[in-house]
Amino acid sequence: MQLPSIKIVLSENDTAEFAAEFAALLKIGDVVCLNGNLGSGKTFFVKNICKEFAVDTAASPSFAIVNEYSGKLKVIHIDFYRLKKVEELYDIGFDEYLSLSDSIVFIEWADLFEDVLPKKYYSVEITQINETSRQIIIKKHE
Ligand SMILES: Nc1ncnc2c1ncn2[C@@H]1O[C@H](COP(=O)(O)OP(=O)(O)O)[C@@H](O)[C@H]1O
Ligand SMILES: [Mg+2]
Repeated sequence: MQLPSIKIVLSENDTAEFAAEFAALLKIGDVVCLNGNLGSGKTFFVKNICKEFAVDTAASPSFAIVNEYSGKLKVIHIDFYRLKKVEELYDIGFDEYLSLSDSIVFIEWADLFEDVLPKKYYSVEITQINETSRQIIIKKHE
């Protein structure tokens, strides 16, 4: 995959394939920020990346702000949606998560607190077109 990449997907299967292609670029220490409306497919995208690393996400409560999964590597899955203020991020140990040397970090709704994002990250922007179609744009920021 060459970045930036823009893709129109027509089905969950297409999204899963695109996620797997992107996963091939990812390395330990990377941060991936996902934005897009509720139901656009951010969590779906993360879960399909996790599959590529044999990381099991099945037991994750969807209401948690942070979930940790492990497989071939560790995955930290953070969701900013329910955060009310930036101080709550210190309470959950956000800075520590960003400096872990054995993990990949995913942040849904990252734009809600964009000031706290690291300098280097990948962004995944998902726009819902209809029930099953999405536009997905992936960029590298550094
Ligand atoms: N092409 C597609 N890509 C991703 N999800 C899709 C697609 N088509 C339908 N869906 C459905 O859309 C929903 C996306 O939900 P979710 O990943 O939880 O969204 P978000 O995390 O952005 O709120 C899922 O129910 C998924 O099955
Ligand atoms: Mg989600």
